Amino acid sequence: LKSKGINEKVKWDGYPHVLKSQQFDKKWVEDVLFPLANKIEKLFGRKKLRKLLKGKTMASVFASESTRTRASHEIGFTHLGGKVAFSSQNANLSGAMGKGESFKDTLKVFDSYNLDLIVARNDSLKETPIIDIAKGLNTPIINAGDGAGKDKQHPTQALLDLYTIYKHLGKIKGLNIAMIGDLKNGRTVRSLCYLLAKWNINHIYFVAPKALKIGKDILAYLKSKDIKFSEHRNLKTIASKIDVFYQTRTQTNLGSRKDTRLNNLEDITIIDKEILKLGKKTSIIMHPLPCLDEIVRSEVDNDPRAIYINNSNNLPSQLKCGLIIRIALMLLIIAPHKSVKLLG
Ligand code: CP
Repeated sequence: LKSKGINEKVKWDGYPHVLKSQQFDKKWVEDVLFPLANKIEKLFGRKKLRKLLKGKTMASVFASESTRTRASHEIGFTHLGGKVAFSSQNANLSGAMGKGESFKDTLKVFDSYNLDLIVARNDSLKETPIIDIAKGLNTPIINAGDGAGKDKQHPTQALLDLYTIYKHLGKIKGLNIAMIGDLKNGRTVRSLCYLLAKWNINHIYFVAPKALKIGKDILAYLKSKDIKFSEHRNLKTIASKIDVFYQTRTQTNLGSRKDTRLNNLEDITIIDKEILKLGKKTSIIMHPLPCLDEIVRSEVDNDPRAIYINNSNNLPSQLKCGLIIRIALMLLIIAPHKSVKLLG
């Protein structure tokens, strides 16, 4: 990729691809991504925002289900004045892959079509991971969730999660974070751990049934970065210490509800009014969504600490932060000079 002339200030390791959380360092997140996201939030609906990617095109190539990730990239791109030239909700069903084509070949097709950006998701363990496919592509690619291979990642989710924490708590340093649910199959927790390890957080509490524990590779990584962590079965015993409750669902698409060792759904930790009562008044409750039965919505949604869908204290919800961060990332990828100008 030709990167000559691109302002060094806004580049990250592996630029312009967004493939895994390890690419991003603390200084870039704090000095470039978050300030740009804040600017974009203020510019919503303004003409200035809608001109930034005029004439640019993207394709979203999703070989598996998505609502938020696909929609926020596509809608975010149009907020910037760009055009979504192709969108496939499920390339397995409606695209060439239905004929047995590999995801790698499908992405190579789009790479040949002179696009400015490809946003791709693939959950199939049989396919080449997006991280590896990207090495052979010339078009910038965003990994919008990769279930393939050992290093399952969802880096834009991790960046938006971190931004949400920063917006609502004003800091990342020193926090106690509970990662709850299907930690074995969920890629959002994996990607978020890689990012959090770059900050001086206080402690990560992993809360999961035995069959769905966080991978040893993540624990080894945290250890190598001197991040304190512990594993638990019962959220109630630690709830009073937690600043961020990061709840996740059991991954039907990535395998875990089919896991025969998880016979009983009661093994899943639920966030309900009891947890709210035990939790700090200053804590926040996050969920990457979709949310199934792991949050009692009738008891939790209206609490100001629940920020997964609802804005709270005049601050954008986790969902809205997702749109903002993805707009910032796409602008940085396609028009770095305009990003620098916006940053001032
Ligand atoms: N959080 C998330 O990745 O949601 P979608 O599967 O709807 O994109």
